[in-house]
Amino acid sequence: MERPFPTVAVVGLGTMGAGVAVAVARSGRRVIGVEAGPTQAVRALARIEASTARAVARERLTAEERTALLALIEVGDDLAAAAQADLVIEEVPEDLELKRGLFAELDRICPPETVLATGTTALSVTRIAAATARPERVLGVHFFNPVHSMKLVEVVRTVLTSPQAAEQVAELARDLGKEPVAAGDRAGFIANGLLFAYLNQAAAMFESRYATREDIDAAMRLGCGLPMGPLALLDLIGVDTARTVLEAMYEQSKDRLHAPAPILGQLVAAGLLGRKSGRGFYAYEAPGSSTPVAEEAAAAEARPAGREVRTVGVCGSGTMATGIVEVFAKAGLPVLLAARSQEKAERAKDRLAKSLERSVAKGRLTEQARDAALALVTPTGDHQDLADVDLVVEAVAEDLAVKRELFTALDGIAKPGAVLATTTSSLPVISCATATSRPQDVIGMHFFNPAPAMKLVEVVSTVLTAEDVTATVLELCAKVRKHPVECGDRAGFIVNALLFPYLNDAVRMLEEHYATVDDIDTAMKLGCGYPMGPFELLDVVGLDVSLTIEKVLHQEFREPGLAAAPLLEHLVAAGCLGRKTGRGFRDHARR
Ligand SMILES: NC(=O)c1ccc[n+]([C@@H]2O[C@H](COP(=O)([O-])OP(=O)(O)OC[C@H]3O[C@@H](n4cnc5c(N)ncnc54)[C@H](O)[C@@H]3O)[C@@H](O)[C@H]2O)c1
Repeated sequence: MERPFPTVAVVGLGTMGAGVAVAVARSGRRVIGVEAGPTQAVRALARIEASTARAVARERLTAEERTALLALIEVGDDLAAAAQADLVIEEVPEDLELKRGLFAELDRICPPETVLATGTTALSVTRIAAATARPERVLGVHFFNPVHSMKLVEVVRTVLTSPQAAEQVAELARDLGKEPVAAGDRAGFIANGLLFAYLNQAAAMFESRYATREDIDAAMRLGCGLPMGPLALLDLIGVDTARTVLEAMYEQSKDRLHAPAPILGQLVAAGLLGRKSGRGFYAYEAPGSSTPVAEEAAAAEARPAGREVRTVGVCGSGTMATGIVEVFAKAGLPVLLAARSQEKAERAKDRLAKSLERSVAKGRLTEQARDAALALVTPTGDHQDLADVDLVVEAVAEDLAVKRELFTALDGIAKPGAVLATTTSSLPVISCATATSRPQDVIGMHFFNPAPAMKLVEVVSTVLTAEDVTATVLELCAKVRKHPVECGDRAGFIVNALLFPYLNDAVRMLEEHYATVDDIDTAMKLGCGYPMGPFELLDVVGLDVSLTIEKVLHQEFREPGLAAAPLLEHLVAAGCLGRKTGRGFRDHARR
């Protein structure tokens, strides 16, 4: 295809427009910048000069490249100049009437073949297109901030946009070194559509005091590898902006999960908009600062000291059990590895030895440390051996009857005062607790897979857990170099309750033919910096496991929006469970 759009007009040269102008000029195209008035035009050019100078200083651009690209950009305040452009990209503030008025004018000014693109985040592209007599040549082109580093561009087609115009704009995006994904016209498009629903749930979780803001943020960073926690991200985006996007999403979807959490409205009303106003979910050193001010943790002081843990036992011989044994042994704790038979326990210890061996091979562990860790692990097939340990972690099959039976047995074996922890990810901890005569000693310790590598542990206290038991587990986590977050005993705890509804939304987006598997994965990786796209993650976790968690969440909260997407149920019924069966959302066998 011949290089599309040799001349591009950019209307509005603020945060986004200035970035887009530079990106387009870097591709060797002529850029006609238009601002609202002469002073704004002077300021816009100064902004572009300053940002490109910074790029030179940071060696993202050479001085020659900067000179060349600046020579391609002209900035004025007369919209009529846009008549010379092949494509106009609008980046004025997010206001429907402003944008519609501008498009009506551009429609009059520009020749009929000129393509007009809006940079809107949450407004209806269709309504903007309707202000013109050429809706087939109007589309959305959604860049991400900062434009120079964010690779994603959502190319938004309305029902009237011609496929050719969309393809040309996608080609332009590729030419700018970006990755275009195709999206239809609905609030939030792909990336924000999935992101903001999740941010909203995190705000609601904070509002209900289920967990602290620090714990919610740490849980999502450490449990899912996200670049930022949701509440810190809301502060960065701007609480007001987030609320506006959610309002637009709710308006279209009528899904209660999109209705802005009341806390967002309260923060906006109070002028606490996030970093830009110096306070939002967190308080910052100054408006515009990214450094949060630490606030006193009053609760931690009031907590009693934990019980002493000198020896631990781990029940189970699977992936999680073996991983948890490794965590304890590497931290210098003697561990009893209790399986259903001596043979199973020995085999689990062999697997542990192999895992430690791999760490040695990778230079992450010394041979001495490996030998020391292995020497601390005693495999046993007899649960009676757990009589003397200070803490038992249960990591057997995710089946309530199996777990309850084990807890009843442990109740008869463990010494008084021993802490009994379950690693369940989807069953109520209280049901394990009530299988014993000492529910105050029972708690959840939700490790993540692979346990040796993942820093997070969700510490789940039930309504009956004694405070010194919670303290014991928090202290133990610190000792074994894990990051504990505290939460109550309800479905999904923090991480799964925020992660799985998002994964389910992605499946629904696919099911509605709104976007493809590849485009959705790309949008989340490049638009939000996620380590994996939702479908990659679903295929790794397993579709059956995901479906179970979604059902548990729906059963707990009865929120219609949490009902598992039928497509997920169909794939599970068809035996497409993800990587483990060779096929899930993608066909792994053929790759
Ligand atoms: N900031 C972000 O993170 C982000 C990300 C993606 C998309 N967007 C979208 O991009 C668009 C622009 O947002 P922004 O953050 O760059 O806003 P901004 O406020 O930084 O910039 C808007 C610019 O438009 C100018 N302007 C206003 N009226 C004008 C007119 N009639 N003619 C010409 N110029 C005019 C203003 O002087 C200002 O320089 C919005 O639709 C926004 O939703 C923003």
